[in-house]
This record gives sequence, C-alpha cells and structure tokens, in this order.
Amino acid sequence: MLRIPDNSLLRHKLARLRDRRTDSAAFRRLLAEIGAILTAEALADLPEAPVAFETPVQPMRAPMLASPEPCLVAVLRAGLGLLEGARAILPEAPVGHLGLVRDEHTLVASEYVVRLPRDLAERGALVLDPMLATGGSAAQAVARVKAAGATGVRFACVVAAPEGVARLRGEHPDVPVIAAALDERLDARGYIVPGLGDAGDRCFGTE
Ligand code: PRP
Ligand code: URA
Repeated sequence: MLRIPDNSLLRHKLARLRDRRTDSAAFRRLLAEIGAILTAEALADLPEAPVAFETPVQPMRAPMLASPEPCLVAVLRAGLGLLEGARAILPEAPVGHLGLVRDEHTLVASEYVVRLPRDLAERGALVLDPMLATGGSAAQAVARVKAAGATGVRFACVVAAPEGVARLRGEHPDVPVIAAALDERLDARGYIVPGLGDAGDRCFGTE
C-alpha cells in the first residue's frame, strides 16, 4: 500500500530538495525536515491506549501510544539524512543502521553493514531511505529487518518510482509505504525521473 500525504509543507520542502541549485548543507537540512514530517505521517495510526494523569488544573485521561515507539532503521548513506528529523520527534526510539550500496551498472544492492537493535519484535520498525528506485535496496532492507524479528515494518521514502513501488509490494505486500511523491519512471541509469539526483552524494557533498 502506497500513501502520499496531502501536505503542502511537505510538497514545498520536496520542491526545494529537488532543485539542482540547492547546495549540500541546505539539502541535508531539508532532508531532516522532510524526515520529521514523513515519520509523523507514517506513524500517525499507531495503536493508542488511554492513560490517567493530572494536568496542573485537574485529573484527566488521554490517549498515549500503547506500545514502545518503533525502531528507526536508516539505510546508509542517504537514510541518515531522514533519520536526523525522525529522531527529532522520536528521541527515545532505538536506531538501526543498514549499509547498502547499489552497483551503478547492475543496479543490484550489496550490504556492507548491519547494526540492528535487539528488541525489534516488540516495537516494529520504520525503515528510512529517501529513494525508492528499482526497489532492490528497499526490498533487501525490509527483508533484513524482518529476519531480525521485526513485525509491523513500515517504509518511508521521499521519492518513489513506480518500478520500486511494484517491487516492494510484490516482495513485501504487508509493508505500508509512505512517500512524499510518486515520480514518472526510471532512466537508463536507474535514476528516478524527474527525481532529485543522487541523494547520498547531495547529502554528503560527494558529487
Ligand atoms: C541510493 C538510495 C537507495 C538506493 C535506491 O543509495 O539511497 O538506497 O540508491 O535504489 P534502488 O531502489 O534501485 O535500490 P546508493 O546505493 O546510491 O548509496 P548511497 O546512499 O551510499 O549513495
Ligand atoms: N538512488 C538515488 O540516490 N537517486 C536515484 O534517482 C536513484 C537511486
């Protein structure tokens, strides 16, 4: 299931992110801001339970999250940009890191680091990667997180290509996908069109 939030602030920040004139420092800042918005949108339907407490004025009951906050899993490198914003609104969530890099000729992703929290099963996980292109990296990341015991996995990205959405849906039909935009297609090099270029390079100034 793909959901694109109807959020004008998100669209505004995405347009600035896409603009080739946006330099690396601004790109990183925007990615973090988008990460906060996407995280809030992706987790807006987490189960709640009523809790009793007192305000300075009187006792009351109000809903709070029924389970511990989900774990945040950043797909390196570009997912680190989204993670910064996600952590601003979920500062107590444990964080996992998955290092994946896509071969520029075969477009197949290979794994170079896996560091995941132990209590994934009790929490669920939100996997963060700005780009869903062929879907190879996302499908591999979600499989890794599931193999580590996570149930209730969600995937958040900034720009999705139809090809990546189809692949993720085919391999992980249980995983909701939230994206800031669904773009047109992939080009011959596997880049999303119109896209925003190489997210990792723009985020870390390695263009
Ligand atoms: C980018 C991006 C995704 C992947 C998407 O990472 O951040 O992880 O490509 O492509 P896919 O859907 O075709 O697998 P990249 O491999 O370029 O690594 P980087 O973040 O270190 O630059
Ligand atoms: N990875 C990126 O960083 N950008 C794309 O357009 C596709 C994959």
